[in-house]
Amino acid sequence: MGVFGAADHLETNGHEQVVFCQDKATGLRAIIAIYSTALGPALGGTRFFPYASEADAVRDALDLSRAMAYKNAIAGLDLGGGKAVIWGDPQKIKTEGLLRAYGRFVESLGGRYYTACDVGTYTPDMDIVAKETRFVTGRSVEYGGCGDSSVLTAFGVFQGMRAAAEQMWGAPTLDGRRVGIAGLGKVGKHLARHLLDDGAEVVATDVNEAAIAWARETCPQITLVADTPALITSEIDVYAPCALGGALDDDSVPVLRATVVAGGANNQLAHPGIEKLLEERGILYVPDYVVNAGGVIQVADEINGFSFERAKMRATGIYDTTRQILQLAAAEGVPPAVAADRLAEHRMAEIGRLSTIRLPHRP
Ligand SMILES: NC(=O)c1ccc[n+]([C@@H]2O[C@H](COP(=O)([O-])OP(=O)(O)OC[C@H]3O[C@@H](n4cnc5c(N)ncnc54)[C@H](O)[C@@H]3O)[C@@H](O)[C@H]2O)c1
Repeated sequence: MGVFGAADHLETNGHEQVVFCQDKATGLRAIIAIYSTALGPALGGTRFFPYASEADAVRDALDLSRAMAYKNAIAGLDLGGGKAVIWGDPQKIKTEGLLRAYGRFVESLGGRYYTACDVGTYTPDMDIVAKETRFVTGRSVEYGGCGDSSVLTAFGVFQGMRAAAEQMWGAPTLDGRRVGIAGLGKVGKHLARHLLDDGAEVVATDVNEAAIAWARETCPQITLVADTPALITSEIDVYAPCALGGALDDDSVPVLRATVVAGGANNQLAHPGIEKLLEERGILYVPDYVVNAGGVIQVADEINGFSFERAKMRATGIYDTTRQILQLAAAEGVPPAVAADRLAEHRMAEIGRLSTIRLPHRP
């Protein structure tokens, strides 16, 4: 996809703005995509990744920014959806100069887009980006930032899982349930602790030796299995995908033993239609962007001066939001993924429309 291909994609998906940025001296090539600013400035992280082609980079920026708009809307944030990608291998090209050049492009948008961390970018990177722009979150605590967002991401996933348990088994607890976590990374580890504290049994897998060693040494109560296929075909009540996207596909859904799916990973549905397959099998799938919004709630709180307690209180609301979505899905006879999209679209339209009520002191 060249620039013209991207323009076609824009028309199909309805993005507001896509900016291509280049600084030849540092090797920076970035794409900043803004899906919507109906609810406020667009917020979403910066993914630094060695895409195979420009087309892949553009597609990711467009898909991820759209998903952020829905996530921020359903989380009740007064923020729109955006995302940026830096095209290149962070191990090879990430330098202070490149990050600062990127920061200047973010600044040039005048606050229409706020950035944060994502795959390939970390809190210290955002501290560098912040030298050039005010429109950055996810900085380190020493610089007034919110630190590691996986803390509230996992907490929010746990809240959403409690709401799903209530719908499925009548009580908002995972006590006595067997929960399978695929991916014991930042989110998976925190989630495992919440579940163990709640009285659940935890079964888990990871491809990384260090993650397995962490479980053996610090959480020996976790039962470890060889891989994700072994996890999803074992006797589990809940499946929590906490690794990469696409966990729910035509191969995994037919063999899944769990009756509830709620996890931290983004983009869990491999393609449209999987939500129907899950429903046909009687599996309650709680949409990923609803339950994993704790991280964006945490970074969004930084914009007005970070308070962990306030952010945690808002992330607790993921329990109520999930309940509301599950109730709407049941009432309208649609999968929860469809109900969540409808609620997010409704909020973007209804609250976004308010700017048509003209105020004398605002443009
Ligand atoms: N960190 C956040 O605040 C946040 C917020 C929203 C969504 N997410 C999403 O949650 C997921 C996890 O994020 P994270 O921050 O914990 O990342 P992470 O990189 O710390 O953890 C991912 C873990 O998954 C493991 N993994 C990779 N492939 C696997 C496989 N095939 N089978 C089993 N394990 C595998 C990795 O070894 C790693 O331990 C990602 O999809 C991320 O996009 C994270």
